[in-house]
Amino acid sequence: MTRNTPFGPKGWTPDRIGSLVGKTYLITGANSGAGFQATRILLSKGADVVMLNRNPTRSEAAIAALQEEFGPAANVSHIRMDLAELACVRSAAAEVLEKVPQIDALI
Ligand SMILES: NC(=O)c1ccc[n+]([C@@H]2O[C@H](COP(=O)([O-])OP(=O)(O)OC[C@H]3O[C@@H](n4cnc5c(N)ncnc54)[C@H](OP(=O)(O)O)[C@@H]3O)[C@@H](O)[C@H]2O)c1
Repeated sequence: MTRNTPFGPKGWTPDRIGSLVGKTYLITGANSGAGFQATRILLSKGADVVMLNRNPTRSEAAIAALQEEFGPAANVSHIRMDLAELACVRSAAAEVLEKVPQIDALI
């Protein structure tokens, strides 16, 4: 059965995303708002998510909330990246290259 959504009958919506096991997504500004919701959807599909966040304390709180929802095995981590500081972006990028073996998409 074809369902209509605000995005049209063939629109890209979370319930039309299949398994993302084995995929790794990097998301900036994922402590809250759109980045946090994108993280939730990707984790619900089995993806690994690396959050690139400005505030480590809020990142730990976000991860605790995600592990509460998806279980302690949820594959979510964070690397500190303040997008307003280019030096911080560079050092975070170096940390990503060191720690993340595969990147399927940057959001
Ligand atoms: N085109 C559209 O239709 C549309 C619609 C909605 C939103 N947007 C855009 O999408 C983005 C997110 O919106 P939102 O509503 O989810 O915003 P939000 O709830 O305010 O979330 C912003 C997130 O970005 C992080 N952030 C802010 N400044 C940062 C920086 N310098 N470095 C790293 N992270 C930073 C915040 O982290 P902290 O926890 O450190 O504060 C927070 O987690 C915004 O740019 C908004 O304008 C576009």
